[in-house]
Amino acid sequence: TKDCNGTGQVVLHSPRGASARVSLHGGQVVSWRNDRGEELLFTSSKAMFKPPKAMRGGIPICFPQFGNRGSLEQHGFARNKIWTIDDNPPPLHPSDSKGKSFIDLLLKPSEEDLKCWPHSFEFRLRVSLTADGVLSMISRIRNINGKPFSFSFAYRTYFSVSDISEVRIEGLETLDYLDNLCQRERFTEQGDAITFESEVDRVYLSSPNVIAVLDHEKKRTYVVRKEGLPDVVVWNPWEKKSKAMVDFGDEEYKQMLCVDGAAIEKPITLRPGEEWTGRLELSVVPSSYCSEH
Ligand code: BG6
Repeated sequence: TKDCNGTGQVVLHSPRGASARVSLHGGQVVSWRNDRGEELLFTSSKAMFKPPKAMRGGIPICFPQFGNRGSLEQHGFARNKIWTIDDNPPPLHPSDSKGKSFIDLLLKPSEEDLKCWPHSFEFRLRVSLTADGVLSMISRIRNINGKPFSFSFAYRTYFSVSDISEVRIEGLETLDYLDNLCQRERFTEQGDAITFESEVDRVYLSSPNVIAVLDHEKKRTYVVRKEGLPDVVVWNPWEKKSKAMVDFGDEEYKQMLCVDGAAIEKPITLRPGEEWTGRLELSVVPSSYCSEH
């Protein structure tokens, strides 16, 4: 069940009451609620919902560039564009549709886009919600150019958390990471789960495909499953950077944490006609579940 009421947003509903809202602006998921109606994604109270800038929160898609290293605007143009509804997408595996509420979106470069990034592509995005409220996103990017091209990619995911100092991430221990706060210098994470007490902006490399974000206070754990996305970005702007962002409240860094499935260190290269697929699946479980299983 879904509806598009002329607002440029599509709402997916699960039979048990979970929902997800997807905006054609950016192909961005702007809300994901569990069956109790609780919002699971962070949106800034100062967010601006007007194109061309991406809304501060939800799940903006960073493509074809992550960050500001490259010729394009920070995090690429995909999150700033108006996507269309794809009424006739090429088939996916039947398990990607069965029992799910979903929407297919499409982004193709405009003449303007081709001036700054001269590579023709088709970017198909499926966002779906299972009966249990699991949110999944499938990105298929096809090269319809005569020449190969490369890109980096991230599902920037703004999780809503109760208090950042009570949150930890499991699954990134002992990995190497690039630290954006130190000119992308490479470091190795120690053996403990990751906790937060200052600004963090890192790209963890070659990570496992399941990562857990534990919110101790809410007794809730977000489980991130990914495929085709070797890296994980962890970002929290903390106090000083929060104050420098116009579309972000001074204290809001306490209520959010970005944990992004991504492909950054080794850009993806597509030959003419080739297609890449990157999948993200988000679920939420009570914290006790994780410690018992
Ligand atoms: C991080 C960057 O990944 O994203 C930061 O390293 C940046 O420098 C942050 O501030 C948010 O980016 P944006 O473009 O959404 O404001």
